[in-house]
Amino acid sequence: MHVAIRDLEPRDADACDAIVAGLPEWFGNEQGTRDCARAVRSQAGLVAIDETGVTGFLTWTHDRNGGVAEITWMAVRAASRRRGIGRSLLSTLIERLRQEQVRLLDVKTLSERATYPPYAETRAFYLANGFEWVAELDIWDEGNPAVLLRRRL
Ligand SMILES: CC(C)(COP(=O)(O)OP(=O)(O)OC[C@H]1O[C@@H](n2cnc3c(N)ncnc32)[C@H](O)[C@@H]1OP(=O)(O)O)[C@@H](O)C(=O)NCCC(=O)NCCS
Repeated sequence: MHVAIRDLEPRDADACDAIVAGLPEWFGNEQGTRDCARAVRSQAGLVAIDETGVTGFLTWTHDRNGGVAEITWMAVRAASRRRGIGRSLLSTLIERLRQEQVRLLDVKTLSERATYPPYAETRAFYLANGFEWVAELDIWDEGNPAVLLRRRL
């Protein structure tokens, strides 16, 4: 199956919402889902396209002074996970950020302190793709401990 990566455009936002709606184990928090819906309509992003349409996306923010970017949201359609789409999105982002002289890429996700199995898969994805543990953070609500992961570019 051929998958192409291109910039996220406003017309992709509904398809991103649908991907998120199909991943309730990861996007069960209503506020988070709303924040993600806002991000796909306002932040820089990439989408993966297969013959059925948008099959994955990521969004990021970029602190132009510090040379650090952060993945804010990322998801691959439930039925298309573990086929290399997340890795393709990430490598396209990394190439882009390197050209912009960005040195570090951060992501915050649910910490292993939460012992919630779906996010063990998420952390496994990031750790398999060059991210390393930086810090445990308590920045979200109680019951949702965060971990900061970082990758050098
Ligand atoms: C996390 C996510 C974006 C990864 O995208 P993906 O297309 O499924 O991942 P890939 O197929 O590119 O995986 C690349 C590598 O990461 C690792 N990996 C990915 N999913 C994994 C899993 N479920 N368990 C263990 N390792 C995993 C593997 O090393 C994999 O390589 P391999 O398949 O050759 O062994 C996607 O699975 C997803 O949408 N998850 C639910 C939502 C989510 O967690 N979003 C991120 C929130 S911060």
